[in-house]
Amino acid sequence: MLNIILLGPPGAGKGTQAARLQAARGMVQLSTGDMLREAVAAGTPIGRKAKAVMERGELVSDAIVSALIGERLDAAAEQGAIFDGFPRTRAQAEALDLLLTERGRKLDQVIELDVDEDALVERIVGRFSCAKCGTGYHDVFRPTKVPAVCDVCGSTEFKRRKDDNEQTVRTRMAEYRAKTEPILPYYEERRLLHRVDGMAPIDQVAAEIDVILDGAV
Ligand code: AP5
Repeated sequence: MLNIILLGPPGAGKGTQAARLQAARGMVQLSTGDMLREAVAAGTPIGRKAKAVMERGELVSDAIVSALIGERLDAAAEQGAIFDGFPRTRAQAEALDLLLTERGRKLDQVIELDVDEDALVERIVGRFSCAKCGTGYHDVFRPTKVPAVCDVCGSTEFKRRKDDNEQTVRTRMAEYRAKTEPILPYYEERRLLHRVDGMAPIDQVAAEIDVILDGAV
């Protein structure tokens, strides 16, 4: 049972690879972005606090996201967890260590998807997902097999994220550089950090991640 972090700027491919690992290995994807979007859609107190912050592309408070992860961590005890979009600050990294230690678990690998920032805007602006089952697509890089029909559930309803516009993406990237990149040495010092070329085609990125994870089993 592995516990791994996928790190990288917006559009690096964290969600794409986490969903694949979940399907292929039975690991549990813990995406703070998805949890926050669910809270916004449900209109919970957390969702009401997070909505405007997310629409600006800024980070939601460490206390809120760490609590969300803590609530879901036990559900991933047997299969292992993929932390997708968490941690994003040093305080979150320390909170995760504590949450794992309290449960007698540990972090096995941290994988950073290394990407060219200029390509990210194109990736994000072209992204859409199935409104029914959530499968992620891209206008150019991962279109549906039959135009406008979901490959997985056959739905013809799709949605795009409100924060997937160029202006917000630039803020999200700046947040990543200022607050998340500085936590890389925290994992490098513990020899947990691996860099993968996130500019490679999706299947190749997946294959590189598999090599790292198989080496850690
Ligand atoms: P979140 O949902 O985590 O967004 P993000 O980090 O900006 O990441 P994305 O989901 O945009 O990108 P991704 O790396 O998953 O890329 P994807 O696989 O979809 O967070 C949203 C907001 O919530 C934040 O801005 C913040 O406000 C808040 N938040 C969340 N977590 C927080 C935390 N811990 N602390 C504080 N605030 C938090 O890929 C993108 C597209 O590219 C897809 O269309 C895909 O098909 C395509 N693609 C993927 N890989 C490739 C490839 N190799 N080649 C070509 N195309 C590819």
